[in-house]
Amino acid sequence: MDKFVIRGGTPLLGTVRISGAKNAALPCMAAALLTDDTVVLENIPQVRDIETTRRLLSAMGAEVELGYGRAHHRTTIQAGKLSTPEASYELVKTMRASTLVLGPLVARCGRARVSLPGGCAIGARPIDLHIKGLERLGAKITQDHGYVEASAKRLRGAEIVFDKITVTGTEDLLMAATLAEGDTVMQNCAREPEVADLADLLNKMGAKIEGAGTSTIRIRGVSKLRGARHRIIPDRIEAGTFITAAALTGGDVKITGCDPSHLDAVLQKLHEAGVKTTHSQDSIRVMGDKPLRAADMNTEEYPGFPTDMQAQYMVVATQAEGTSIITENIFENRFMHALELVRMGAHIKMEGRRAIVRGRTPLGAAAVLASDLRASASLVLAALVADGETIIDRVYHIDRGYEHIEEKLKSVGAEIRRIGEMFPKKAAAPAKA
Ligand code: EPU
Repeated sequence: MDKFVIRGGTPLLGTVRISGAKNAALPCMAAALLTDDTVVLENIPQVRDIETTRRLLSAMGAEVELGYGRAHHRTTIQAGKLSTPEASYELVKTMRASTLVLGPLVARCGRARVSLPGGCAIGARPIDLHIKGLERLGAKITQDHGYVEASAKRLRGAEIVFDKITVTGTEDLLMAATLAEGDTVMQNCAREPEVADLADLLNKMGAKIEGAGTSTIRIRGVSKLRGARHRIIPDRIEAGTFITAAALTGGDVKITGCDPSHLDAVLQKLHEAGVKTTHSQDSIRVMGDKPLRAADMNTEEYPGFPTDMQAQYMVVATQAEGTSIITENIFENRFMHALELVRMGAHIKMEGRRAIVRGRTPLGAAAVLASDLRASASLVLAALVADGETIIDRVYHIDRGYEHIEEKLKSVGAEIRRIGEMFPKKAAAPAKA
């Protein structure tokens, strides 16, 4: 199993280019199931979750070609014939976003069989809201042996009000409603840029969607969708992670190929914590020459501060003067990284959904364990400021969502190396769909 060895203490200097957003790429790949034409996606990040999605779609009979060579960020999907509209437990257990195929499959094939995801390191992760919404659209749902089965001759447009804001739930039902008969109005939708990006692709495919990116989305169902070409938006969480890396190490880094307008809450909070940034339309420069100061933070749905940046922000809080209270409002168990940070010398007290971080504490290198994707990122950040050589085990978590993070960090001066087998040589080869 791969590990990272990181020697802390070097200020990061230079330029880092941001990849396409994993959490936009995954639903866009699932959307290709809605048509028998070819969908071409550009700016696909080379991360493990994309390879898992390729396997998921291929197992159903779709042809998925991950680009290689100079076109390695392009994916071509052709779902002409879907022989097996199923997502197996084997795949869903490694990537919960696999449940995104439920809506498209039932809309396109009239039936779908998808494993229930169960819990994971950050919380329970139920899909009851996806299921309820599909029922509103007229699907018949049964649950058996850990699988959910949905069937409908053709879905019917309906009014759906989400009990709770859910990102992939909004995306799943948005995809399903595009091929439903009649109009659908969805209320209390997730407003994340990834939802708007998916709607952009769907509209290029011939869907009639209005309001994506706001809490009310209106969809006029169509009988058929066509192929399209679409460029995935930049990854705002990867950008946020590099912004914090630059700030923490007292560096000066230009983050290019990003969309600063998707990072308002993150930038605002980091400014409050003393981080200096300037930005253009597609880049952010971070100047980490000022001391950090404590600032409380609550995670919220977009446009609030993202839960996917909570772990990284916690490292900032350990290096800030004063006490910061961090409240996690989205997932019930997303503080696993805190325990590892404490092992590196941080003062963090957990009280339910709140973490009280007392700074500023020098961090010391230790052997630590990555527990999920963003927790791993926070350990990398902590290691970059720790005294000595930190070894981070189970970095396969980070490979799920960060494209070549060690190469990018190295290019701005970080002392980081990977020991063990290197991903993703396999994904770069032509796919045997
Ligand atoms: N929820 C329900 N019922 C549902 C669906 C969700 O109760 O049917 C609850 C969840 O338990 C959670 C809350 O609603 O408490 C929000 O969950 P949401 O459904 O929005 O999360 P998700 O769609 O499963 C996506 C991202 C996550 C990100 C969350 C929150 C993708 C593929 N995943 O997950 O990303 O943390 O939204 O913003 O888009 C990551 O990239 O590391 C990651 C975990």
